[in-house]
Amino acid sequence: MGASISPPAGACLVTGCAGFVGGHLTEALLALGAEVVGVDNLSSGRRENMEGFLNHPKFHFLKRDILETDWLDEARRTLPYFRCVFHLAAVVSVAYSMNHETETLETNYKASIELYNQTVNDGARSFVFAGSAAEYGDEACLPIKEEYADNRTIQLSPYGRSKYLASRHIIEAGVGCSLRCFNIYGPRQDPSSPYSGVISRFLLQAARQESLTILGAGDQTRDFIYVSDVVRAYLLAAGLGPAADKPLVGAFNVGSGGRLSIQELASAVNKITGNPAGMTHLPPRPGDVLHSLADVSKLERATGFKTQTTLETGLKETWRAQGSPGE
Ligand SMILES: NC(=O)c1ccc[n+]([C@@H]2O[C@H](COP(=O)([O-])OP(=O)(O)OC[C@H]3O[C@@H](n4cnc5c(N)ncnc54)[C@H](O)[C@@H]3O)[C@@H](O)[C@H]2O)c1
Repeated sequence: MGASISPPAGACLVTGCAGFVGGHLTEALLALGAEVVGVDNLSSGRRENMEGFLNHPKFHFLKRDILETDWLDEARRTLPYFRCVFHLAAVVSVAYSMNHETETLETNYKASIELYNQTVNDGARSFVFAGSAAEYGDEACLPIKEEYADNRTIQLSPYGRSKYLASRHIIEAGVGCSLRCFNIYGPRQDPSSPYSGVISRFLLQAARQESLTILGAGDQTRDFIYVSDVVRAYLLAAGLGPAADKPLVGAFNVGSGGRLSIQELASAVNKITGNPAGMTHLPPRPGDVLHSLADVSKLERATGFKTQTTLETGLKETWRAQGSPGE
């Protein structure tokens, strides 16, 4: 994690702790010596993501739904005060959100605001919300700056809208921050979901020695960031970096600041995995944005954040963790 991150001076609450990012974040907090209450309803998360820490003496798991009214009381009975709150639990599938608008708004917006208001009133020093690049809608002006998401922005899905509304509440309240992550990848990202990240899907296809399916021409570009870099951004945002005890306030993009086409990505995956099966093109998915690139200078200025993992290293790590066929 690097010498520049300090342990939190109090207990942490992580929602979505059984998820892809939440699992890595919880692991990092425990490694720093923190005491953590983790909450997850295991809807898209998995117990296997918590294998490395489920029995850790400083970890307390609550299998609860954040839509239930009393879950935070149970968390507070477990540890009475949370100094740092990391809120990642969410309806995460854009496609699912299209047909489940009310559930998405209730979970990603209303429950987030409720948690924010209660924990900040309790005196939490930091609140870090999992915002998203989806808050920017189909933003054509690249690289995308934080101020581009405003009340005139049309998000392309209830997922993007719900994340924007929650971020806006946090920004206006003036305590805590929203990290608008771009495309995260790394070990333990679930490849089985049809809506999961393109890298985990490509690696699964490579493991089966199948051709990689590219939606559209493959010239669409994305800003990919490795999960351990994202975890470091979360810890810095909570004020655990060199500017210790200065948690971030506002919205911050989290990305690599570079972009890669899906075609280039597919070539890199086939090269690293030795997959001989090539690529197949399918029709583009309606509603997918063509290009995406984060301007990460605001986070850099505030925390000194720089990504540490190159795409090549990140892909190799993810491939190694996932295992190739026969392993
Ligand atoms: N993965 C990405 O590329 C990416 C990019 C931008 C933002 N994000 C945001 O980061 C966060 C983590 O994403 P992830 O990729 O780890 O997804 P994930 O699905 O692996 O993790 C989300 C976790 O929240 C839990 N959850 C969902 N609804 C819940 C509820 N009602 N009560 C309790 N727990 C609930 C799920 O079971 C899951 O473990 C999400 O908020 C997501 O929107 C992710």
